[in-house]
Amino acid sequence: MLTVEGLRSRYGRIEALHGIDLHIDSGEIVTIVGANGAGKTTLLRCLSGLQPISAGQIIFRGEALATTPAYKRLERGLAQSPEGRQIFTNLTVEENLRLGAFLFTDDRVDRDMENAFQMFPILKEKRNLAAGGLSGGQQQMLAIARALMGRPSCLLLDEPSMGLAPILVQQIFDVVKSMRDLKVTVLLVEQNAFGALSVADRGYVMETGRITMEGPAGELLADPRVREAYLGI
Ligand SMILES: Nc1ncnc2c1ncn2[C@@H]1O[C@H](COP(=O)(O)OP(=O)(O)OP(=O)(O)O)[C@@H](O)[C@H]1O
Ligand SMILES: [Mg+2]
Repeated sequence: MLTVEGLRSRYGRIEALHGIDLHIDSGEIVTIVGANGAGKTTLLRCLSGLQPISAGQIIFRGEALATTPAYKRLERGLAQSPEGRQIFTNLTVEENLRLGAFLFTDDRVDRDMENAFQMFPILKEKRNLAAGGLSGGQQQMLAIARALMGRPSCLLLDEPSMGLAPILVQQIFDVVKSMRDLKVTVLLVEQNAFGALSVADRGYVMETGRITMEGPAGELLADPRVREAYLGI
């Protein structure tokens, strides 16, 4: 579904990604774990088209994306739920969801919204309220639901568990797992390595702009280096 080869990206003179290689098969949940500043967000923004790349290739469903604008990537099925949720706080929950469907004018939008409400009943209860009044966990659910309104085949999730109470963190990881039933392929970026590797099929470890380890999620969870560096064990 998605192949990244030799991807580099820079902020001015500083290179943040030093040649990233990874691939995601259709139907997989793949995670990238790494500490603060490793380059995870930069990578996701390169994939969604919000951050320019300076070298390398992004191939999504057989097509090279390097210079494709962000909205065209969404049209092709690649949607992102950004770090820090980035919901529109002054708009209602329903308006936020409709913005996620800005590409579409068909009747399916209403059905998609009903599906979103089935998945996140709290959003239905609050559909006419300003999104800024939602709790952190509810805002995260809204950010994921909004991305799903774009009908992605591949969903990029940037630290969905960040800043949430433990019980909500579990709920969010359950939501990630449920993407399997929706047949949505997931690339999940997380500092919460334990949670992310627990729901993923495979994982990559990223350190200062490079992939340093990769493998089946269970193997990474059991790896002494991962346990020491990311799980505090
Ligand atoms: N707008 C920017 N201008 C300059 N440097 C930046 C900018 N955004 C990020 N960087 C730098 O790029 C590197 C990677 O940052 P990035 O935000 O991608 O990391 P991250 O893995 O997402 O971290 P976190 O887990 O804290 O979200 C860091 O060294 C960071 O300081
Ligand atoms: Mg980040």
